[in-house]
Formats: sequence, C-alpha cells, structure tokens
Amino acid sequence: MRFAGKVAVVTGAASGIGKATVLKLAGEGAHVFAADIDEAGGEALAAASNGQIDFVRCDVTRPADIEALMNAAAAKAGGIDIVFNNAGAGGDRAPIDEITPEGWDRTMDLLLKSVAMGIRYASPHMKGRKGASIVNTASVAALGAGYSPTAYAVAKAGVLHLTKVAATDLARYGIRVNAICPGFINTNIFTSSLDVPEESKDAAKAVIAGMSAAAQPVARGGQPEDIANAVAYLAGEDSSFMTGTHLLVDGGLTIGQRHAWDPEAPGLFDALTQMEDAAKAGAGA
Ligand SMILES: NC(=O)c1ccc[n+]([C@@H]2O[C@H](COP(=O)([O-])OP(=O)(O)OC[C@H]3O[C@@H](n4cnc5c(N)ncnc54)[C@H](O)[C@@H]3O)[C@@H](O)[C@H]2O)c1
Repeated sequence: MRFAGKVAVVTGAASGIGKATVLKLAGEGAHVFAADIDEAGGEALAAASNGQIDFVRCDVTRPADIEALMNAAAAKAGGIDIVFNNAGAGGDRAPIDEITPEGWDRTMDLLLKSVAMGIRYASPHMKGRKGASIVNTASVAALGAGYSPTAYAVAKAGVLHLTKVAATDLARYGIRVNAICPGFINTNIFTSSLDVPEESKDAAKAVIAGMSAAAQPVARGGQPEDIANAVAYLAGEDSSFMTGTHLLVDGGLTIGQRHAWDPEAPGLFDALTQMEDAAKAGAGA
C-alpha cells in the first residue's frame, strides 16, 4: 500500500495508460480523481471502486476545466500529492509542408498546453506536501523522428523540456516533476486517432497488437500496465532522488528493431541472408 493516504489526479483516465494507472494507484491505497472527456468510461471506473476513485469530467484543452479539476480534488481531499498529466490522442497527422495553423494549435493545446496547465493548476495544492510528485506523459516520439506525426512529436518533445524547467521551478516547494516515454503500447489511441469505422475497430486493434509484438527487441506487445508500473515508481518515494528526467519504457524500440538480433524475426538481415543464399545457390548451379 505504497500510496495509502495519498491523493492523486490522473487525466485521460478512462482508457489505456491512464486507466491502468488509476487502478494501480488506487490498488495501492491512493484516493484517485480520474479525469476524462469520456463520461461513461470514467463513471464506470468510479462506480466499481467503492468510493476510492472519483470521476471528474475534464477536457484538458480547456484550462478552466483543469483548474476546476484540481480545485475540486483539493477541496474534497484536502490537497494533492500526485498528478499524472496523461490525456492525449494522435493530433493532426499532416506533414510539416501541409499542416494548417489550426491543426498545429489543436495538437499543441491537447498534448503540450494541457500538461503546462495541469502543472500550473495542481502545484498550488501540492506545495509543501511530503513526496509531492508530478508525472507527464511524453513518448518515444519526443526522442526521435519517425515514430509519430510531426505535430505530435514536437508537442511530446515540448513535454520533456517542460518537465525539466518545471522541475527547477517547483524544486523549492518539494515538488518533483518527471516524464514517462512509452513505446508502442496496446491501447485505443491508434484506432481512435485513425479513421477506422466502428465495425472494423476490433480487427484493426488485432493487427496493431500483432505489429506491436514484433516492433521491438522485447518480443511482446507493450501493455498499459507496463507504463502504469513505471508511473507508480516515479510517483512514489522509491524515486525521491529523481526530478526533471524521464523514464523510457519501450521494450527496446529506440535501440533497434527486433530483427537486429532475432534470426526468426522478419527484417533486413533476413532478406539479406535469403539473397545471399539465393546468390550462392545460383553460383553453385
Ligand atoms: N499507446 C501508445 O503507444 C503511446 C505511446 C506514447 C505515448 N502515448 C501517450 O499516452 C497517453 C495516453 O494514451 P493511451 O495510449 O492510453 O490512449 P487511449 O486512447 O487509450 O486513452 C486516452 C484517453 O485520453 C482521453 N482524452 C482524449 N482527449 C482528451 C481531452 N481533451 N481531455 C480529457 N481527456 C481526453 C480519452 O478519452 C482517453 O480516455 C497519451 O498522452 C498518448 O499520447 C501513448
């Protein structure tokens, strides 16, 4: 019961990484305020929790909603100890030579300004509370090009830098600020960000799950619980000497593809070996 007596706020709480983190923190004793625009999902989470999880409707693109969320949590529970700024979606998918100013702003509002405002409105309620900790969801897309659409990648890189500067701003109040960089995690984000018709979503999810298992050196799909475990570490006292940094939880995605070491996995080396074999067979004939 690492989080007994702690008050936590989680955004994007109704699905995927946020939901797994709500269940992890509540499962270890925290009183969790679960915030999302998905009212049905959020209410269901709260209803199944015996009062340990409160759902609060909050659209993180609206700063007034975030302020109201943090004020409501602090008023009901007496303060805030842990914040997980996590809500998000894929954002505008246009490349840089086609993106509109509106698409760019929408993506930044959802993925970057939301995190800044989460920190802004939570921190007054966290000052001086022992072990106060903020965790922000970035991504492998913050670390390199090619993992996501352009605006998403830039927003997530912004989350990493925001994490550093906020950590210095808030150190004097004893508040730590860190980020998490998930790799390819099996959640709804892919189908909700693509134009997949409702009736094809299950099939699309199965294809994505298969791709995610083959994407990286660790030969299984990344699960929301893999990220929730790392968030709990950053939220808790075991990481009390860490601030302004990030944890990369990606099954090795950013060090190289699985075919770099696994002769069974299809990939470049496989193709080269087949070519070599074919060439040798041709020479021997
Ligand atoms: N799944 C991955 O592979 C992956 C990888 C790297 C980073 N991430 C990040 O993880 C975070 C969580 O995504 P997920 O994969 O769990 O996706 P998900 O779609 O399962 O969950 C996202 C949740 O955020 C909520 N949400 C969306 N817009 C919102 C808004 N304006 N206000 C409040 N809530 C809103 C959705 O309703 C949903 O419940 C996102 O920030 C995402 O960018 C995901």
